[in-house]
Amino acid sequence: MEPILEVRNLTCGYQRLPVFTGVNLTLYPGQLSGLVGPSGCGKSTLIKAILGLVRPWEGEIWFRGKQLKPGVAPPKVGYVPQVETVDWSFPVTAEEVVMMGCYQNQKILPWQSKRERNIARQLLNRVGIEHVAHQPIGNLSGGQQQRVFLARALVGEPDIVFLDEPTSSSDLQIQHELLHLLADLNQQGLSIFLSTHDLNSVATHLPWVICFNHGLICQGEPIDIFTSAILEKTFGTEMVVFHHQDRILIASSGTSLRHQMQHNLPAILRKTASKTK
Ligand SMILES: Nc1ncnc2c1ncn2[C@@H]1O[C@H](COP(=O)(O)OP(=O)(O)O)[C@@H](O)[C@H]1O
Ligand SMILES: [Mg+2]
Repeated sequence: MEPILEVRNLTCGYQRLPVFTGVNLTLYPGQLSGLVGPSGCGKSTLIKAILGLVRPWEGEIWFRGKQLKPGVAPPKVGYVPQVETVDWSFPVTAEEVVMMGCYQNQKILPWQSKRERNIARQLLNRVGIEHVAHQPIGNLSGGQQQRVFLARALVGEPDIVFLDEPTSSSDLQIQHELLHLLADLNQQGLSIFLSTHDLNSVATHLPWVICFNHGLICQGEPIDIFTSAILEKTFGTEMVVFHHQDRILIASSGTSLRHQMQHNLPAILRKTASKTK
């Protein structure tokens, strides 16, 4: 199968300090994959480099067999930035945020045509929040804001969407709803690449994970690659992996392990079981 995107020998950094060197990564059509690693390990930098928002020091990015010029965004790609980086006091409605995606993609003048309004409505409907179309973006919940940006990323029918820490500011219920929505979009043919530092409620639910810490460590299905050794290498701290039926639960080891085992584990397992039904 022809890859949708290839990262070859990519090195990125800021002010002479490298964040990662020599990263190679291939993404295939139809994949739903997660980039997993601790805070500050370079996940956002890698995503931004792929999207042409950060200029690589070295290396190449190929989209569907064509090399991209440095600093140029690949075509047919959507991006959902980390919600923490967005200015929510900006006075626009959910529908207007989605329509901004139309202007970016089609380079047309920024007046609101009926066509764009219809596209925005359809996309808000696709992500399940058409009812908030006229609300100011700042009034929405974190989960709804996330979906507005997902709808905006879907303008122009992209082949692949990149989401940077899509679940970091939401509670367990909202995280699971978003993961279900992403799985549905993936079933409809969209390739999805997200970053996360959250192992239990996000990473273990993904079909494919890429462990990253200032460079690629390992990739595969959670069941195969979430081992204590790989997780320790990724997160730089001791981790213990539990298997319960077909579920994986990861806890950091050390002094709190006994506490987690005795007090939290049964509750977490019950919660995960009911959420994933
Ligand atoms: N614009 C920037 N200027 C300077 N340093 C940056 C910038 N963005 C990120 N960094 C640094 O690069 C490293 C990787 O950051 P980032 O890619 O945001 O990691 P992650 O997304 O995994 O948390 C961190 O040490 C961070 O402080
Ligand atoms: Mg980040």
